[in-house]
Amino acid sequence: MAHRNRFMHEDIPVSDAYMNDTVHVITAHESVRAFESRAIPDEMLTAILTAARSAPTSSNLQAYSVIVVDDEASKSRLAVLAGEQECIAQAPLLLVFCADVNRLRYVAHRQGREFGGDTLEMFLLASVDAALVMQNTLVAAESLGLATTPIGSVRDRPDLIAEELELPEGVYAVAGLCVGFERAGERRGTKPRLPENVTIHRNKYSEDAFEAGISDYDDTMMRRRTYAGRHIQVPGEVGQDDAEYGWAEHTALRCSSPEVLGKPADFGRRLLRSYLEGRGFSFD
Ligand SMILES: Cc1cc2nc3c(=O)[nH]c(=O)nc-3n(C[C@H](O)[C@H](O)[C@H](O)COP(=O)(O)O)c2cc1C
Repeated sequence: MAHRNRFMHEDIPVSDAYMNDTVHVITAHESVRAFESRAIPDEMLTAILTAARSAPTSSNLQAYSVIVVDDEASKSRLAVLAGEQECIAQAPLLLVFCADVNRLRYVAHRQGREFGGDTLEMFLLASVDAALVMQNTLVAAESLGLATTPIGSVRDRPDLIAEELELPEGVYAVAGLCVGFERAGERRGTKPRLPENVTIHRNKYSEDAFEAGISDYDDTMMRRRTYAGRHIQVPGEVGQDDAEYGWAEHTALRCSSPEVLGKPADFGRRLLRSYLEGRGFSFD
């Protein structure tokens, strides 16, 4: 069944000349968090992973690794470690996309060279490589009728996730992706995005459209009740009404201090830098 895409949801006109299966799949994306237990056929997984490996990669360094987790016990442990997210245990597959400088170090030593890739640039390069591979995976999986949800909470407890996946030094989990056949009735339609003129700039960066665009978007998200029952509660403050709590407030709180966010899940993120430095990454 073809899902409605963003052009339809946001009433954006597009002629047939610029609409094809690829654009449809990308614009119909929606994170889906409930899955059937049905396994993914091996050949389908091969197709998805081949698409994953076809992502562009800085200087062809291929500074990423993907851990394919289909072991039920391991997925259940990872579900707990990554923010108690049930969809991880439920999905037949969790793919974990890692930035990987371990293999680059191996190649350097294999060639009798010293490895000088412990730089901020290399950290970013490897993280971007991993993210691009994840997005290719997502698009390929969704194009084949599967559903996905990215999982950033693999960075909540990077130490325990690394232990579970036996990641060596120089490898860290950037994000996971739940993949599977979705349970019927879970979709709400593509989640609205900020208006184009807020996030897309012509020739030069401009904040001119921020205020009106953010205001409109806030109204849309409140009407859609996107954050209803999912407010971030600030310690010592009275909770807000759903009618006043939209994207702007949620985002402001999501970007606030650890004291506000405070959940155990955010502990790992505060420690991420020192953890990564201890694992062979550098921010110099
Ligand atoms: C890097 C990354 C990490 C994410 N982590 C999580 C997560 O841990 N749990 C979750 O339920 N959704 C997660 N998401 C999904 C986002 O919440 C979702 O993409 C966003 O709300 C937009 O909704 P949509 O994907 O349905 O369009 C993540 C998305 C990205 C790109």
